[in-house]
Amino acid sequence: MKLWVIGVGPGDPKLLTLAALEVLQKAELVFAPLMGSEASSRAYQVVKVFLPDHCKVVQLCFDGDERKISQTILDEIARYSCKEAVFLVLGDPLLYGSFFKLFPEIQKKADLEIRIVPGISAYQAMGARLGIPLAQGDEVVSIVPGTVSLERFKALLELSDTLLLYKLALFLRRDFLVSQDFCKGWIGENLSTDKEKIYPLSGDSRNLPYFSMAILKKT
Ligand SMILES: C[S@@+](CC[C@H](N)C(=O)[O-])C[C@H]1O[C@@H](n2cnc3c(N)ncnc32)[C@H](O)[C@@H]1O
Repeated sequence: MKLWVIGVGPGDPKLLTLAALEVLQKAELVFAPLMGSEASSRAYQVVKVFLPDHCKVVQLCFDGDERKISQTILDEIARYSCKEAVFLVLGDPLLYGSFFKLFPEIQKKADLEIRIVPGISAYQAMGARLGIPLAQGDEVVSIVPGTVSLERFKALLELSDTLLLYKLALFLRRDFLVSQDFCKGWIGENLSTDKEKIYPLSGDSRNLPYFSMAILKKT
């Protein structure tokens, strides 16, 4: 049994790879992660026009119970007895992707061949929109989740020429970022969707959507 883990990119279906499209167009069983507040999976919205009519889509609510979600995947695979299934991941599966939370549990219970199709990450979409190089020559880039401690964040900022700050809504010290006068920064919300907003970092402390990130560059 083969399980394809497909990176669907940041939101715009035009940013799907041809490799992803090839798998999606013949998919029989698709698993799509659903976040708490969503009515329909964002990753599914990206790919739905490409799926065959007979394809069964199972939306999986990521509520923190990885064991239960893994079991649902295994049960559905057994129920549909198909040779291949697909698990959708926003952006790239290897960068904070939801699948790898389930992988240890799934691997314990089933003999699945896992095949990964890379996807375009949010930072790539944002860099392209800004039209700025993320690194040149010997510059160093760090990818940092907004959940790191301020101490670790400061150390990484010191070491990096460019810092890609994911999970920005969970980073509580935006005031600290703005106070760094050696840094230039931008925020990107809902990149590559019709709700996309990109603007310079400011002290404004309004709530950000979960799908927001920042790019910081040393000046
Ligand atoms: C669980 S991580 C998934 C990252 C994804 N695998 C990737 O490669 O981009 C979720 C975080 O990625 C960022 N993100 C993903 N898609 C985004 C988008 N379309 N616009 C803005 N930020 C996004 C946000 O920081 C969000 O909190």
